[in-house]
Amino acid sequence: MKILVTGGLGFIGSHTVVELQNEGFEVIIVDNLSNTSLDVLDGISNITGKIPAFEKLDLREKDKVQEFFRRHVDIVGVIHFAASKAVGESVEDPLLYYENNINTLVYILQELQRKQEASLIFSSSCTVYGQAEIMPITEGASIQPAMSPYGNTKQIGEEIITDTTKVTNINAILLRYFNPIGSHPSAEIGELPLGVPQNLVPFITQTGFGLRKELAVYGDDYPTPDGTAVRDYIHVVDLAKAHVIALQRLLNKKNLEKVETFNLGTGTGSSVLEVIQAFEKVSGQKLPYKIVGRREGDITSAYANTSKANNVLGWKAKSTLEEAMASAWKWELKVRKAQ
Ligand code: WQD
Repeated sequence: MKILVTGGLGFIGSHTVVELQNEGFEVIIVDNLSNTSLDVLDGISNITGKIPAFEKLDLREKDKVQEFFRRHVDIVGVIHFAASKAVGESVEDPLLYYENNINTLVYILQELQRKQEASLIFSSSCTVYGQAEIMPITEGASIQPAMSPYGNTKQIGEEIITDTTKVTNINAILLRYFNPIGSHPSAEIGELPLGVPQNLVPFITQTGFGLRKELAVYGDDYPTPDGTAVRDYIHVVDLAKAHVIALQRLLNKKNLEKVETFNLGTGTGSSVLEVIQAFEKVSGQKLPYKIVGRREGDITSAYANTSKANNVLGWKAKSTLEEAMASAWKWELKVRKAQ
């Protein structure tokens, strides 16, 4: 069974390719290499012993997408990661996000609808909930108006998929990620550090290594136990495993509806200060940081009610925050020593 992984050389994509190969799937990756490098292929094969098929492809080029699918008629499922995902950048350049995150999804769906049957796993995000009223957040929580074009592309993507599955042979599962962190325990793959990190954990590990002077903590005046914002930090390997389970659910026709939605988190909320403390514990060093003002667009708290994924998918995140931070730190040390 050939599975297409778009954006498969990215952070979550590469970890998912490893888990797909471990489960015996034949994988082909397409990636436009805009936010990654071909070295990730070596990292994957160093872990699994198998080099996945790869083709450089920019999914915004409709004719190239059609030609690719004509050459790979045996693709039975797609895990679609390829997208731009920086919230701040999406505010500055919305059309980049609408073209790259929406057009590409449409072109893939247009190819899948030609097949007798097709399975799609879509990379969505807890961003669609905005600031949910009730914690932990269930899949039935209302979808808030998007706080950024990035978040809007995830909401629109879910709607496009829902409408399309109604009139085609495509079955889909939408996976709403909370905050993916960490790296494969082998430290062969991880979150590639390109540019100044927007996300908390890579900024922490780069500060820990001395690449950044100090971490700016965006606000300690939130209505939370220690005043800093709360998120659900999930180890990327736990997240990757959930993708394989979701794909198998569709391939084995176990899905109860044409589109199913699952929150992927640990079910535990951690504050920024707790993440810092976890880093200090696993690294054995103090992290320099200062409290500054809140970041525009940030929400106070988001953590998942994971009972649907636990009970229906039979999946549960296993790694603790400390284990995830330890893997992120191990990856940072490996990347920097290799430089
Ligand atoms: C986490 C917490 C910050 C950096 C984003 C996207 C979301 C998803 C995950 C793709 C917040 C604080 C951060 C820093 C800080 N991505 N922080 N100093 O914003 O929860 O979610 O990434 O799907 O869509 O929105 O993640 O890591 O940026 O921030 O204090 O230098 O850390 O304020 O409370 P976020 P994040």
